[in-house]
Amino acid sequence: VRIPFVASLPTRKTDHLTIAASPGVLHTVTTGLEDVRLRHRALPGRDLDQVDLTTALLGAHLAAPLLVSAMTGGTDEAGVINRRLAEAAAEHGLAMALGSGRILLDDPSLLPTFRSGPRPPLLLANLGAAGLTVDAAEELVELLRADGLTIHLNAIQEAVQPEGSPDFADAGERIAAVAAALAPLPVVVKEVGFGMDAEDVRELDRSGVAAIDVAGAGGTNWATIEGRRDDRAGAVAAAFDGWGVPTADALAQATAATVLPVIASGGVGDGVDAAKCLALGAAAVGVARPLLTAALADRADVAAEVLVEQLRIAVWACGAPSADAMDRSRLAR
Ligand SMILES: Cc1cc2nc3c(=O)[nH]c(=O)nc-3n(C[C@H](O)[C@H](O)[C@H](O)COP(=O)(O)O)c2cc1C
Repeated sequence: VRIPFVASLPTRKTDHLTIAASPGVLHTVTTGLEDVRLRHRALPGRDLDQVDLTTALLGAHLAAPLLVSAMTGGTDEAGVINRRLAEAAAEHGLAMALGSGRILLDDPSLLPTFRSGPRPPLLLANLGAAGLTVDAAEELVELLRADGLTIHLNAIQEAVQPEGSPDFADAGERIAAVAAALAPLPVVVKEVGFGMDAEDVRELDRSGVAAIDVAGAGGTNWATIEGRRDDRAGAVAAAFDGWGVPTADALAQATAATVLPVIASGGVGDGVDAAKCLALGAAAVGVARPLLTAALADRADVAAEVLVEQLRIAVWACGAPSADAMDRSRLAR
């Protein structure tokens, strides 16, 4: 008889942060972005500072089409990280999604571990699709005074996690009910780094969500992270170290399957990767783990600044006047 290893939610949060920041937690497959090349224009056509990175996303005005992907909240350490990430996002005009708010619904006194520091131009709450209810979604968005909600689909993680709830039978209906209840506030559905299929995107499109974040494979691997917490989980997780839809592939499938804004994320390492995603049709680009490790080193502000600068140079050097003008015509032939 297997005695399940069950960690309390705060303990699990701490484990996740420690393990996620350590080496060896990336997918064994790559994003596919390394095979995408942007054109290089020796005559970019304008001065670098004439490049316009501003964009509108979900009703907000961003200084650049970048999103701090959902990560954490609920512990003192998470509070420090969220403050540093919020400062960086606000300073550079980027969107930010907070980590899963489940723990906050259990204990509203944890609010300062989610919300401290300045407010980014677009602030999104986050909950998992497994166990999602309309009441929880409404209460969380209200508590955080968020501009909308991101809902994560994490089937592989829940299945590998010792205390996981791989209950996805009616996930689609739950998402549709939450999207209807929160409207006009936007609901974004994301994966956590295994990507999604075109069929998923079509289902989500029909469920009334405002945008889709493919969160593809090639970056952080949540089977591997869960596998580090427990030997048996590790044995199961080993087969999934390369599972999923690589980010470039997931992005191509999603943009072909919907006219909704598609956010690209999963293994986005720098501003050139972000520019490639925009050229492939993304409306914005999300980054998680690289900003976590920067925040832990109290360098989130510098990391965000570098990301924006790399994106600006890439948009400029492939001849585009603006981030919004990035399309397939900017890809090398
Ligand atoms: C420490 C950590 C915690 C995370 N927690 C959440 C979460 O609470 N909700 C969620 O939707 N995604 C969560 N994610 C997944 C990220 O939002 C993202 O989809 C994934 O890490 C892939 O992006 P990356 O390769 O840039 O890290 C977390 C990621 C990290 C690194």
